[in-house]
Order: sequence, then structure tokens, then C-alpha cells
Amino acid sequence: MFELTDKVAIVTGGARGIGKGICAMLAKQGAKVAIADLLMDEGVATAAEIENSGGCAIAVKTDITDLASVQTMVAAVKQKFGPVDVLVNNAGWDRMKPFMKTEPAFWSKVIDINFKGMLNTTYAVAGDMMECNSGKIINIASDAARVGSMGESVYAGAKGAVISFSKTMARELARNKINVNVICPGPTPTPLLDDMKAEDAFADKVLSSMDKIIPLKRMGTADDIAVAVVFFASDEANFITGQVLSVSGGLTMVN
Ligand SMILES: NC(=O)c1ccc[n+]([C@@H]2O[C@H](COP(=O)([O-])OP(=O)(O)OC[C@H]3O[C@@H](n4cnc5c(N)ncnc54)[C@H](O)[C@@H]3O)[C@@H](O)[C@H]2O)c1
Repeated sequence: MFELTDKVAIVTGGARGIGKGICAMLAKQGAKVAIADLLMDEGVATAAEIENSGGCAIAVKTDITDLASVQTMVAAVKQKFGPVDVLVNNAGWDRMKPFMKTEPAFWSKVIDINFKGMLNTTYAVAGDMMECNSGKIINIASDAARVGSMGESVYAGAKGAVISFSKTMARELARNKINVNVICPGPTPTPLLDDMKAEDAFADKVLSSMDKIIPLKRMGTADDIAVAVVFFASDEANFITGQVLSVSGGLTMVN
């Protein structure tokens, strides 16, 4: 079950945090993993960890907000591993502050990384998948998109766009047997959360109380999210498309 032997997977933001866990678990299931990230020291270290555990991984420096950079990365991955079977749009970024204390430059950064980046990668990869009549696209959104999140207005909006875009692409690409699904992590300790807590007392207070609020009484782990990614990437999920799965210990329960 959930075999990914020799499948070629691109994971954006795979150098650290949730993406790192996703890369490791995809590789464990047999996939050849390309880590597409801005952070090359961390990306190379993550690839080396995977290789040392018997997996197959490379790191390719990529800025997902730049289509040319994404296209160069996809060409390098195809040259090294062959056609792309799985695209995991995981890279993301945010800071927690009330909307009225944000600036247009901040809105642009949040939208560019969390939404437009995914447009660039999908644009660069989906054409080949259509020619092959197969592929899996898995987009990491957030429960902030489903139920809102204090201090994360623009991020929640951008992640909401991720969900809407994914559902539409699931419809457009279904005839080519390409599945598009969304995973919404709940609060998951990562460098992103550490940075948010360090920079803002409100973020620190909210995020530090999560263990008590989450019905399953703990925050998520990268592995919790990675398991769901492996499922959506596998043949066992061939009949599932356009769906949104929260992996958040029951923090949100959406109809
Ligand atoms: N950690 C959480 O609690 C949480 C909750 C809900 C959703 N998410 C989502 O999960 C995903 C992973 O988050 P994380 O917590 O692991 O964050 P993280 O900051 O720890 O890791 C994100 C990675 O994305 C990379 N990245 C950022 N901008 C990039 C760009 N322009 N081009 C290429 N790579 C870029 C970073 O370099 C980093 O390696 C994000 O989409 C985030 O929005 C996280």
C-alpha cells in the first residue's frame, strides 16, 4: 500500500519544517525527491539525510515566486530523474498581525509566496502531466483558510485561493487523470512558527496555548502531514480529487 517506487516528486519548501518531513516520507515510500527551496544549506542537508537513509533526493535552488526560476528547476529535475509524477506545493510564509497593521508590501509577499508560487509550479509541471495522462498535485493550504485565524487575514485569504484554485484544477485536469487535492495542517511546530512566536507576543500567546485547545491535545508534527501527502500521492487515492483534508488533531471540523 502507498508504494511510490521510482515516482518523481517535487516538494517546494522541502528544506525544513513540514516540507522536510514530506520529503523524507515520500523518499521512504520509494520516490525520487526534488527539494525546491530558497534555502540551499538546509536543502542540501535534507537531501543528504535522505540519501544517508537509503533514499533518493536532490536539492534545487528555487524561488517559487519567479516563473523562470521554477521552470529552470523543473527542467533540472526532469533531466536528473525524468518526468514529474508528483508535485507538492508546500512552501509558504506568514507573520501574525491584525489586518489594519499590515502594509501592501506585506500583502504582496504573502500572496506571492502562498498563492502565486503555486500557480507558477502548477503551470510549469501540469503540461507534462497532461501529456502523460497521470499525475498527483498536492497543495498545502491551512485551516486558517477554512475557519479563519486571528492575525492571519491575508494568509487566510491566500490559502483560501489555494483551495479554490485546487478545486478548479481538479475539474480541469480530471480528464487527464491528474488528481489535485489539498491538505490543511493545523498548528505544527516548525521554524515558521518559531519565527512568528519570536517576533510577536500575540502569536506566542496564541500558539503556546494550542496544546490545550486542540481536541487531541497536541500540536501536529511534520510526519502527521507527510502521511496524508503520501496517501494523496499514491495509486490508492486515484479516485479522490478536489478534496480538502484537515490534519489538525480535530481543531477544525468542517462539513
Ligand atoms: N507550521 C504550521 O503550523 C502550519 C500550519 C498551517 C499551514 N502551514 C503551511 O505548511 C507549509 C510549510 O510550512 P512550515 O511551517 O514548514 O514553514 P517553514 O518556514 O518551516 O518552511 C517553509 C519552507 O518554504 C521555503 N520557502 C519560502 N518561500 C519560498 C520561495 N519563495 N521559494 C522557495 N521556497 C520558499 C522556506 O525556505 C522553507 O524552507 C506552508 O505552506 C505553511 O503555510 C503550516
